[in-house]
Amino acid sequence: MTIIDGKLTAKNLREKLAIEVAEMKSEYGVQPSLTVVMVGDDPASQVYVKNKVQQTQAIGMISSEINMPANCSQSVLLDQIKALNHDSSVHGILVQLPLPHHIDESAVIAAIDPNKDVDGFHAINSGRLFNGDLGAMVPCTPQGCVLLIKQHLGGDLSGKHVVVIGRSNIVGKPVAMLLLQENCTVTITHSRTRNLPEVCRQADIVVAAVGIAEFVKADWIKEGATVIDVGINRVITHDGKYKLVGDVDYQAVIEGCGAITPVPGGVGPMTIACLLKNTLLAAQATIS
Ligand code: GUN
Repeated sequence: MTIIDGKLTAKNLREKLAIEVAEMKSEYGVQPSLTVVMVGDDPASQVYVKNKVQQTQAIGMISSEINMPANCSQSVLLDQIKALNHDSSVHGILVQLPLPHHIDESAVIAAIDPNKDVDGFHAINSGRLFNGDLGAMVPCTPQGCVLLIKQHLGGDLSGKHVVVIGRSNIVGKPVAMLLLQENCTVTITHSRTRNLPEVCRQADIVVAAVGIAEFVKADWIKEGATVIDVGINRVITHDGKYKLVGDVDYQAVIEGCGAITPVPGGVGPMTIACLLKNTLLAAQATIS
């Protein structure tokens, strides 16, 4: 049984990206830049944004952070995004989610220039991904999942049966599209799927992205299967402390599976590394 080390894989990817950033700077005089827009002061979002900014700078990219008050109007936010769209020194724009309730998230995502949409959430990019267009900005977490699967299973995923649990626009649907492109047979399941344990037992690869702590049980997993756990759930332990757990009952599943990503230290670090990759691609697209 292998524990798939997302932290190490992400570090290796960041090192590779840092070399490409330096080359771009010396050959073209262009330094990739990412602007993160944060509305309000949600503590969890602040931690995510801090990590993104720090890791962006660590590989030699320019990182800017725009903080807007929680009561900022939607039109002020949209004007800010338009200004970033027109600013040629900004290659990537990320609006940290969730947004305050009075702001329509889909209107905000739609306002981002699709070529600067490093989250890959814009409908143009989901359409490109759906069409198998190589120019798509691909959402970061699904990209990270596929990189971990390919690294563990040796690249060729042809014919593998993947069961994806969850159908969100951010993970479930895009990861299914990416794996289809890798010639997998993909089953997308969700809360209304009948006989979910039985369906999961068919899988060579399970991607759990359902957002329910320790939802996937040991007897759902075929012996030797690869398990990718996208969940990040905060639960309270017996002694009143918080801990992070995934969507998979990790301690039970490790017994019989072939490989599994831990939480934390699995998919999470890959998400930010893929954000940096998308920022580099957005910058490259402006010079070629
Ligand atoms: N909030 C939590 N994860 C993400 C993410 O990947 N992108 C954005 N924009 N907001 C998030």
